[in-house]
Amino acid sequence: MSTQQYVNDIWQGDCAELLKQFEDGSIDLVVTSPPYDNLRNYKGFKFPFEDIAIELTRVIKSGGVIVWVVNDATIEGSESGTSFRQALYFRELGLNIHDTMIFRKRNPVPQIYRKRYTNEFEYMFVFSKGLVKTHNPIMVDCLHAGLELSTTTYKNYSKNDQVRSKIANPVKDKKLKGNIWEYVVGKNKEDQEAKEHPAPFPCELARDHILSWSNEGDLVLDPMCGSGTTCKVAAQLNRRFIGIDISEQYVKLAKSRIPAGQIQTSLLA
Ligand SMILES: C[S@@+](CC[C@H](N)C(=O)[O-])C[C@H]1O[C@@H](n2cnc3c(N)ncnc32)[C@H](O)[C@@H]1O
Repeated sequence: MSTQQYVNDIWQGDCAELLKQFEDGSIDLVVTSPPYDNLRNYKGFKFPFEDIAIELTRVIKSGGVIVWVVNDATIEGSESGTSFRQALYFRELGLNIHDTMIFRKRNPVPQIYRKRYTNEFEYMFVFSKGLVKTHNPIMVDCLHAGLELSTTTYKNYSKNDQVRSKIANPVKDKKLKGNIWEYVVGKNKEDQEAKEHPAPFPCELARDHILSWSNEGDLVLDPMCGSGTTCKVAAQLNRRFIGIDISEQYVKLAKSRIPAGQIQTSLLA
């Protein structure tokens, strides 16, 4: 099998094994979320992290991106630190830690541990193989769009505040979005389809990353695709996709979320 033979379908298996059949540098973008520190008992669970990281590093194209959405368990009063260990392992394999982004939940689960604040975010590590080849930046409205400023104050840390005498341009309408992205989890209609899975990420999260780091026709992989969120959104956005999950039940769920015309196999094949 070659990568091409897996395209536009969802496959059951251990991704560390299946990915061995993919060619080097054949994937444009990975958007995925691994199991978090055995927090949930996924069906057929097996998670050889180092093997998976090595394969992903091999199959991603030069300039390609891996978005790794992850969080830590808290064990005996301490966060495990697994997220950062994984990020540093990808760095050891030669990838850039291009950005450490935050997925902020607008409806976080109330905190069950005492003496801690509610945990309301997960990490979204953005790794790249060399310099990122595709970035379609998401722009947002400027709070003070159009405001005319006669002078600008800026801070020079080696001196006191300084004032520029030059007339500043009016504040622009749009600016680059920040790297903390906020989503409602599990409540939108398109996310409700995934509720048989214990930990789907929002379609909007997958959409924002796929639009940012890939172009139409590119090949997007989710090697631990769960309910198939990445694959569903990639197909909607005219990208090619490959999904893999170790659980037969989740593969079936993922296939059910993709319209018949956008997937190679039939729903119940
Ligand atoms: C956090 S969930 C992914 C959820 C997914 N992002 C979604 O939106 O539904 C992690 C998934 O990894 C799968 N998994 C665990 N080990 C795996 C392996 N070795 N190969 C493939 N999938 C694996 C689990 O079955 C689970 O569905």
